[in-house]
Amino acid sequence: MLFRAMLVFALSAFTVVSASAADAMKKVPVKSDRILVAYYSWSESGNTKYFAEQIQKATGGKRVEIKPKNAYPKDYSACLAQAQKEIQGGIHPELANEPVDFKQYDVIFIGSPNWFGTIAPPAASFLASADLTGKTVIPFFTYGSGGMQNCERDAKKLAEKAAAVLPAKAIRGASVREADKEIADWIGSSLDISKEEADAGFYGFTLTSWDGKEVKTADFKGKVVLVVNTATRCGFTPQYTRIEKLYKDYHDKGLEIIDIPCNQFGSQAPGSDEEIHTFCTSSYSTTFPQMTKSDVNGDKQIPLYKFLKAQKGTEGDIRWNFTKFVIDRKGDVVKRFEPAGSMDELESLIKSLL
Ligand SMILES: Cc1cc2nc3c(=O)[nH]c(=O)nc-3n(C[C@H](O)[C@H](O)[C@H](O)COP(=O)(O)O)c2cc1C
Repeated sequence: MLFRAMLVFALSAFTVVSASAADAMKKVPVKSDRILVAYYSWSESGNTKYFAEQIQKATGGKRVEIKPKNAYPKDYSACLAQAQKEIQGGIHPELANEPVDFKQYDVIFIGSPNWFGTIAPPAASFLASADLTGKTVIPFFTYGSGGMQNCERDAKKLAEKAAAVLPAKAIRGASVREADKEIADWIGSSLDISKEEADAGFYGFTLTSWDGKEVKTADFKGKVVLVVNTATRCGFTPQYTRIEKLYKDYHDKGLEIIDIPCNQFGSQAPGSDEEIHTFCTSSYSTTFPQMTKSDVNGDKQIPLYKFLKAQKGTEGDIRWNFTKFVIDRKGDVVKRFEPAGSMDELESLIKSLL
């Protein structure tokens, strides 16, 4: 078995495929928070992991390790045997990963070691199960001595639903730690990564409404905006009545409200987006825009909250449901109200800004 594998490596050394076609490509524009870097890495040296880390550094994207439900044996020969069996059988092993919300990404890097001349089965599983419609996929690989071999070709086949698959990059595993600049240059030649969100301040964010529509904060330019993280089973839930009254009284004068249901505090927003929306409209007759349930703290927080919590005077993790941020007509975050903060004070502030 080992001998056969070594033969594969030796033969493959003559079939290095170049990906320099990337040079001829037009750069793909993307915002850094719309980039996902997914990778599978098996060996102790973590070559593909290192490659993924460099991509994350250069792009500012989110990195996700692909984990098969049944990890491959640590023993090299045993791993070779299992990998070969799966590859020959066209098996896509089950993954242990939490489902990725592909709506959040436009560009998906997919990384894998070269296994028997092709993409490793866990990375193949990830691609095969991903919703790649409209996405740009960028494969990357590390190898022993065989180069790209069929890795790029096979990744492309698995990503046929993608809008585009950019030329892949393969780096010898043993040299990947000397390739930081090569990696950064390759990314620079493929992507035009925009810092638009940082520059645009409050108006640089794209949210998703409860029924899946895109909502851009830029659409609220010139308005006074109240952003509130809500929950349907919280002691503060009755605040919906007052918030709806604010909307009724001041919407015509320029007030907008962005309701972001969040299940991070006591799991008090357990329903689906539709259930939450039905609850709010039927129990509290709400009419203001409601977004999809989102995280406001931690790894999966939506970028808007990172921004809101990074402003002077409104810093710090959200402590509970119904924390409110008030944004003035210029897009400055002027005040944060904690959940039990005075609603009268909130109303006076809104009135003074309109
Ligand atoms: C099961 C298995 C099969 C492999 N097959 C190949 C191959 O066909 N060609 C090659 O160049 N390298 C091959 N390699 C070497 C890996 O591609 C290389 O060591 C890679 O950098 C490891 O990445 P990792 O550290 O992220 O696991 C193989 C390694 C394993 C474990």
